[in-house]
Amino acid sequence: MINTVTVIGSINVDNILHIQALPKPGETIAMSGYSTAGGGKGANQAIAAARSGAKTAFIGAVGNDANGEYMKTQLLENGINVQAVKTTSEAATGQAYILLQSSGQNSIIIDHGANAQVTVADVDAVAAAIQSSTFLVTEFETPLPADEEAFQIARAAGVKTILNPAPAVAQIPESLLRLTDIIVPNETESQAITGISVDDEPSLKASAEYYHKLGVETVIITLGDRGAYVASGNISELVPAYKVQAVDTTAAGDTFIGALAAELRPDGSNLLAAVQYASRAASLTVQKLGAFPSIPLRKSVLLAQKE
Ligand code: RIB
Ligand code: NA
Repeated sequence: MINTVTVIGSINVDNILHIQALPKPGETIAMSGYSTAGGGKGANQAIAAARSGAKTAFIGAVGNDANGEYMKTQLLENGINVQAVKTTSEAATGQAYILLQSSGQNSIIIDHGANAQVTVADVDAVAAAIQSSTFLVTEFETPLPADEEAFQIARAAGVKTILNPAPAVAQIPESLLRLTDIIVPNETESQAITGISVDDEPSLKASAEYYHKLGVETVIITLGDRGAYVASGNISELVPAYKVQAVDTTAAGDTFIGALAAELRPDGSNLLAAVQYASRAASLTVQKLGAFPSIPLRKSVLLAQKE
């Protein structure tokens, strides 16, 4: 069965500044190169889901400008339904400035632009698309009220919700967590929510317990090159990461989310296999430059899994 995945979230033009290492305060450095790519956490997740074979729709906003057209075209070329992508004259298409160090690590500065214009009314207008999805996915680069509205519509229709609480924000309303079926934070994001720093098995278990108590059925805490901790029902397991040489880690987390949403059965019966698949997909993303260009197709992930 093919999953239908709807993502509500951000879409950005990524400006990638290639540098050796981050400048210190007061220091001036030269960049060694510049490139652009399609990005935005939400759009990356949608691209990942689509390339992993899901029927995918995106809810978001772009500016009435060339960047907006360019970004929508890229979604369309990946077979993503863009009917719920609004073009606004209130702001320009979102942009991200990514300081990419030669180690592959990045630091990101975001100009939200049109992403900040996604409203509750926009979500209500596409309620039917949400209701007919297998999974609804969101992160925190578009306004919270719209996310929460989407989660409410999903929950009422029995559609499973996936929350990627990224980037880390301190005040996440408990009401949103109560509408979440699957939460996928990284260590920093999880600590921002639970107050528990995850550094060993007991703290991972305690974190999972925190989410379970709020009714979140499945908890997946991503731990970078240490893998992903999965807690759901009787499962409490660390799925190891694939060791790869990082070129650009941008969109690795987003790939994990989108690939998971495409691969996971709605009843969760293949949870560990889907996490392994998602983590293999993310390991391919870190080996290439740029967000959209680095997100793999399902066939590449399956091939890599055979290695
Ligand atoms: O997660 C990576 C993404 O974060 C980038 O593509 C950038 O646009 C920011 O949204
Ligand atoms: Na990448």
